[in-house]
Amino acid sequence: MRGKFITLEGMDGAGKSTHIPNIIALLESRGIEVVSTREPGGTALGESLRAILLHEEMHPETETLLMFAARREHIEKVIAPALARGAWVLSDRFTDATYAYQCGGRGVQAEKIIALEQWVQGDLQPDATLLFDVPVEVSVARLINARAPDKFERESESFFTKIRNAYLQRATDHPKRFHVINSNQSLEAVISNVNEVVMAL
Ligand code: TMP
Repeated sequence: MRGKFITLEGMDGAGKSTHIPNIIALLESRGIEVVSTREPGGTALGESLRAILLHEEMHPETETLLMFAARREHIEKVIAPALARGAWVLSDRFTDATYAYQCGGRGVQAEKIIALEQWVQGDLQPDATLLFDVPVEVSVARLINARAPDKFERESESFFTKIRNAYLQRATDHPKRFHVINSNQSLEAVISNVNEVVMAL
């Protein structure tokens, strides 16, 4: 049986990555093989593209194309084979991030992203997406303490407001797939919310 494809999304500073070990442990306790991966990245080429994407300035459409180039490789080498053998794939970000950052944040036309999504993914879509949501002030305050902020983490509060709004719009547009986690609570409360969602997958 095909495995499930789970993605984690949220603004920089929303705290999503903290929950990955816990989510893996929960799924493994159910006897599920989990492949944990991330975007941009997940393959050798993808990680090379990540280094460029996170540190070099470029045209927003170049950024979009490179995200999808990395994604094409990621699907081919990691995601599709894992799902086919019945493993579950947990990806720290996927195409919703392109809609949030490149479309919402940078203003790339949605039609262009839709076309690339169809080209690169065909029918592949996440089965479930956990969106870690925090008010923009909270994420920006967390990023101020980041030691070596990347290109995205150095963006303005107005950029992050656009990202948050774009993510929440995606969640509204895909209510069955999205699970919005209020990440502006105590860590225990967020963990319990995540556990509830993951156990129901
Ligand atoms: P990370 O900090 O969660 O590892 O993500 C790396 C950065 O890449 C993050 O700031 C969001 C950005 N990103 C995009 O702009 N578009 C995308 O499609 C993806 C996958 C990530």
